[in-house]
Amino acid sequence: MHVPVVIVGAGPAGSLLAWILRQRGIESVVLERKSREYVESRIRAGVMEKNAVDLMIKAGVGERLKKECMYHPGVVIGLHNEHHFLDFDKLIGVGVTIYGQSELTKDLLGALAAEDHKVFYEAPATAIEGIEGDSPTVKYAHEGVDKEISCDFVIGADGFHGLSRHAIPAGILKTYENVYPYGWLGVMAKAPPSKEVAMFCHHERGFALLSMRSPKISRLYLQCAPDEDLNEWPDERIWEELDTRLGAPGWELERGEIFQKDVTPLRSFFSQPMSHGRLFLCGDASHIVPPTGAKGLNAAFADVSVLSAALIEYFTKDDATILDRYAGVALARNLQCQRFSSGNTAKYHIHPDSNPFERRMQVAELEYLVSDETSQISYARQHTGLPFDYWPEI
Ligand code: FAD
Ligand code: DHB
Repeated sequence: MHVPVVIVGAGPAGSLLAWILRQRGIESVVLERKSREYVESRIRAGVMEKNAVDLMIKAGVGERLKKECMYHPGVVIGLHNEHHFLDFDKLIGVGVTIYGQSELTKDLLGALAAEDHKVFYEAPATAIEGIEGDSPTVKYAHEGVDKEISCDFVIGADGFHGLSRHAIPAGILKTYENVYPYGWLGVMAKAPPSKEVAMFCHHERGFALLSMRSPKISRLYLQCAPDEDLNEWPDERIWEELDTRLGAPGWELERGEIFQKDVTPLRSFFSQPMSHGRLFLCGDASHIVPPTGAKGLNAAFADVSVLSAALIEYFTKDDATILDRYAGVALARNLQCQRFSSGNTAKYHIHPDSNPFERRMQVAELEYLVSDETSQISYARQHTGLPFDYWPEI
C-alpha cells in the first residue's frame, strides 16, 4: 500500500494533523500503538492557548470545545500566602481556555472515526526506513500480522517515547535535556474549583497549582519528589498540603472525592533537526517541556499548524516552500516555549539544592512580577501563547 502521508501516533498532534489534511482531500494513514479508549482517557493537558482553540475551530472540530470550555481572563499568583490576580485580558486582551486533553482527543478521534478515516489502533510502528529517499516505508504490527506501508512523507507524532525521532541518523540528531530534581503529584477531585482561574503558588514547602477541568472538577498539583510514592499520600495528607501551600486568609479550598492520582517527573527536552529527508517530527516526539505554564500541547498544535500548511501547499500547489522552512520555523518557536517553561518552572519551584540567597532572589522576582505592570505584560504575552508562524488554508 502507498499513501501520501503516514502519521505515527494518534495523540493530539497526529489526530489534528490527519483531520486537517483530510479537510483538503490529502489522504493519510494513522498508526497508534494504544487502543482508542486508552488515548481518549489519558488525563494530561488542560490549558489551551487562543491560537490552539482557533485552530480547532478553523478545522471544524471546535463546536463542543466552544460550548464546554471555561475561559480564564488571567491567572492568580500565590506568594507569602496572599493571592494576586494577573488580569491578562486587561493587560493584553487575551486569556487562556480550559478544555481537557481527553475531551479534545475524543473530538478529534471521534471526527476521524465518523468519516471512516484509516486510524489503526493497537498498531505500533516498528521501523521507519528510507527517509532519505523519495518513498519511505513504515513497518508496523496489526492484529498479529507484520505489515508495511510506503508513503511520500512520514510524520513522527508519536510522543516522547516513540520511535520516529530515532530514525534520524545518530550523527545528525542532536538532543538537549534537563531533568529536574522534582515532579508533580496531580489529583483530579470532584470539587468545584476554589478559584475562578488557575492559581500558581510559590511556597517554602514547594510549588502548588490549582486548576480545573469543569465547574465540578478540580485539577490540583503539588511539587513532590520525581519518584514520589503515592502510597504515602492518603487523600487527607494531600488536602492538608494543598491547604498549606495554596491558602490565604479568608479563602477556603473546596474538598471533594479524589478519583485519580498521578506523579509526573519534570523534564525539558528537545531534539533537532525537526525534519530529515521525508520525516517530519511534531509535538512531544521532538520536544517536552515541564508543565509549569502549560505549553506542551499548545506547542504541538503550533507545529501542526505549520506542518499542515506546508503539506497542503505541497500537495495542492506543488510548492515546497513552507515544508523546507518547517524545521527552522518550528524549532525557533519551540526554543521560546522551552525558555518560558524552564524559566517559569524555576520561578515557582523550590530547588532542593538552592541556597538562602537564591531562594530570596526567587521570591524577590515574584514580588516584582506581582507589582510591576511591564513585567506582567511580558509574562501575559508568553503565558497566553506566541503567534503561530503559518496557518493552514482549510
Ligand atoms: P502524545 O500525546 O504523547 O501522543 C503520541 C501518541 O503516539 C500516543 O498516543 C502514543 O501511544 C503513540 N505512539 C508512541 N509510540 C508509537 C509507535 N511506535 N507507534 C504508534 N504510535 C505510537 N500541555 C499543554 O499545552 N497544556 C497543559 O495544560 C498541559 N498540562 C499537562 C499536564 C501534565 C501532568 C502532563 C504530563 C502534560 C501536560 N501537557 C500540557 C503536555 C501535553 O499533554 C503533551 O504535550 C501532549 O500530549 C503532546 O501531544 P502529542 O500528540 O505530541 O504526543
Ligand atoms: C494545568 C494547568 C496549568 O495552568 C498548567 O500550567 C499546567 C497544567 C492543568 O490544568 O492540568
